[in-house]
Amino acid sequence: MWYKQTMLILSIETSCDETSVAVVKDGREVLSNIIASQIAKHAETGGVVPEVAAREHIKVMIPVLKQAMEEAEVAWKNIDAIAVTKEPGLIGSLIVGRITASALAFAQDKPLIEVNHVHGHMYSTWLETETLPQYPILVLTVSGGHNELILIEGPSRFKLLAESVDDSAGEAFDKVSRLLGLGYPGGPAIETHAALGKPTVEFPIGLPQENNFSFSGLKTAVLYHVQQNEGRLSDENFVNDTAASFQKAVADALVKKLMRVLRSHPVKEVHLTGGVSANKFLRERIEKELAQLSEPPVFRYPKQMSYCTDNAAMIASAAYHRNF
Ligand code: KG4
Ligand code: ZN
Repeated sequence: MWYKQTMLILSIETSCDETSVAVVKDGREVLSNIIASQIAKHAETGGVVPEVAAREHIKVMIPVLKQAMEEAEVAWKNIDAIAVTKEPGLIGSLIVGRITASALAFAQDKPLIEVNHVHGHMYSTWLETETLPQYPILVLTVSGGHNELILIEGPSRFKLLAESVDDSAGEAFDKVSRLLGLGYPGGPAIETHAALGKPTVEFPIGLPQENNFSFSGLKTAVLYHVQQNEGRLSDENFVNDTAASFQKAVADALVKKLMRVLRSHPVKEVHLTGGVSANKFLRERIEKELAQLSEPPVFRYPKQMSYCTDNAAMIASAAYHRNF
């Protein structure tokens, strides 16, 4: 077996618009986690342009790798394996990370571990725990590219319980933000404006009777609301109330389905991960709902903002923990 008692994994994540390299010991001790974000670049166009993202990864890949090794203060001979995001993601962006990882694994004679990006997010909470989380764990993982409820029954034992039939909640945050003229990325912008407004409009919850999610109807409902209120985008109260109403509808949908799935799958822990886990309103809503259960599961979400959104440390964590 390639794994041993103490294991150092160097991991690479380039699935979207963050170039990240980390060195992680035993799946939880982060020695370095360098993230070069392209947010400023994509804010100019109001969203990620795949071609631009790939070119940015090429520019910063090697400096980020060097910085991660320097900060971790480890020698190449002590790295036990290279982990890399395999999929899903933007193909041009993924290729930069995967070619770098393959070249390193070949040149340094290390095993290469390919990790699914969604599994990476699912293990982001594990980076902040001193002891192992307890199985079974229900993970609500939501970002720009994915939106799922996944049961972890044990190491490498994943069961997909629900997913979005169209857009993810993160994608809806980004599109609605653009519609309201609040820029990219949409999540933080919507959250800030929602905190200043009131949920005055009742937007629809997609597939209310099902476990699966749907956010495209909600996006369209916000579009119609903005069109019906022509000229009001310069009215701060209108923008803030629309943001608050939209955010509430997203949280209602996510919480409703999470609680329904929990009824048929009682678990020891519930984890909220992915970029949308940064949302405080959503965290509080889930916390409140879980507290009402007779035996509330432990609730975790990434406390460090850099572990909510894309980062390489979570890829090393997934590579390690899926075996233990
Ligand atoms: O995980 P991530 O960095 O990339 C993907 O795998 O997609 O997630 C980015 C997504 C974006 O859609 C962004 O708008 C959303 O996470 N996001 C948020 C917040 N911060 C980031 N959504 C809601 N509230 C936030 N505070
Ligand atoms: Zn992600």
